[in-house]
Amino acid sequence: MCRTNRGVTVWFTGLSGAGKTTVAKEVEKRLEEKKIRIQRLDGDIVRESLTKDLGFSKEDRNENIKRNTFVAKLLTKHDVITLCSFISPYRLAREYARREIEEVGEFVEIFVNSPIEVCEERDVKGLYQQARDGNIDNFTGISDPYQAPRNPDLELRTDQETLKESAQKVIDYLTKQNYI
Ligand code: ADX
Repeated sequence: MCRTNRGVTVWFTGLSGAGKTTVAKEVEKRLEEKKIRIQRLDGDIVRESLTKDLGFSKEDRNENIKRNTFVAKLLTKHDVITLCSFISPYRLAREYARREIEEVGEFVEIFVNSPIEVCEERDVKGLYQQARDGNIDNFTGISDPYQAPRNPDLELRTDQETLKESAQKVIDYLTKQNYI
């Protein structure tokens, strides 16, 4: 089978604390071991620079996705494997990202699925507690919507799988599709 020359954006969507960043980092590590060129784009990081001016209203979240799609599209065009981790709660915004990126390469939507009870129980950043206490507005899953993918390319149940298993599922999918 011949290897595709097209770049790919791997788009991780899911609630805060579902494991998007953790899985993306593990996938990054494994791809780097294979000497594959990758770039990670992560909500928590990008929001300190490119989208520093944005908050969490629907408009701002969509603008966040729009700007990051612009960057991911450029990277994908140049055959970089681009790993995006954004809550990206709105279906239409994710469809926008797919449409844009498929103009230049491949797009893979991965639903990082962990029930909100589990995310809240973990509360890695302490944000769920703050949201419950009324100190954070528009918190996804608590006081703001999350529109789960209806037909993701891949679903990870991070409450049931180990990190290694989840990362392996991503690698296996990309391999099966001849993207890597
Ligand atoms: S998105 O909705 O625009 O895609 P993004 O992934 O960039 O969100 O940023 C989410 C991160 O911002 C969370 O992981 C969390 O650390 C932080 N955050 C701060 N306030 C909120 C909020 N109201 N809702 C969700 N995440 C928030």
